[in-house]
Amino acid sequence: MTKLNKVTVSSLTELNDFTKSLVPTLKPGTICLLYAEMGAGKTTFVNSFMTHLGVDTVSSPTYTLVNEYHSSPPVYHIDLYRLESDHAVDSFDLDYYFSQTRYIFFVEWSERLSHIDFPHLAISITRENENRLITITNKGL
Ligand SMILES: Nc1ncnc2c1ncn2[C@@H]1O[C@H](COP(=O)(O)OP(=O)(O)OP(=O)(O)O)[C@@H](O)[C@H]1O
Ligand SMILES: [Mg+2]
Repeated sequence: MTKLNKVTVSSLTELNDFTKSLVPTLKPGTICLLYAEMGAGKTTFVNSFMTHLGVDTVSSPTYTLVNEYHSSPPVYHIDLYRLESDHAVDSFDLDYYFSQTRYIFFVEWSERLSHIDFPHLAISITRENENRLITITNKGL
């Protein structure tokens, strides 16, 4: 387990600079599990990353479980908060998505996953006043 990156961003511009630097790192098949409190900036992080793939997410529905972006590479943005019960989370067929290895994956509310046995990048976002501390850890397993 190696630490990939740790950065503090204090504005959306700085966030955009950071997510841009991740574009070469996030290859097709990469699973990014996001960990953060409510409103810490998970969706904003993914949307920022998407701008570098030429996708304007402003038009995306906000309250969906899965957003699919036909970018290059394509991206699945999954928000587990939309699943009502833990049973629904356990029954949700993440493997169906993860088997499509030409995609990059972002999962919000990864805290809800009860067992994680696949290699992934853990992206944690914590708020410190108006700043966000973003830590990315490679969980190669
Ligand atoms: N790096 C940032 N700099 C400035 N503002 C930010 C940053 N990240 C997020 N925000 C702001 O914080 C608010 C919440 O962000 P966002 O919806 O991305 O959080 P979230 O973690 O996805 O929330 P939820 O837990 O509801 O899914 C938004 O108004 C967003 O503009
Ligand atoms: Mg969100």
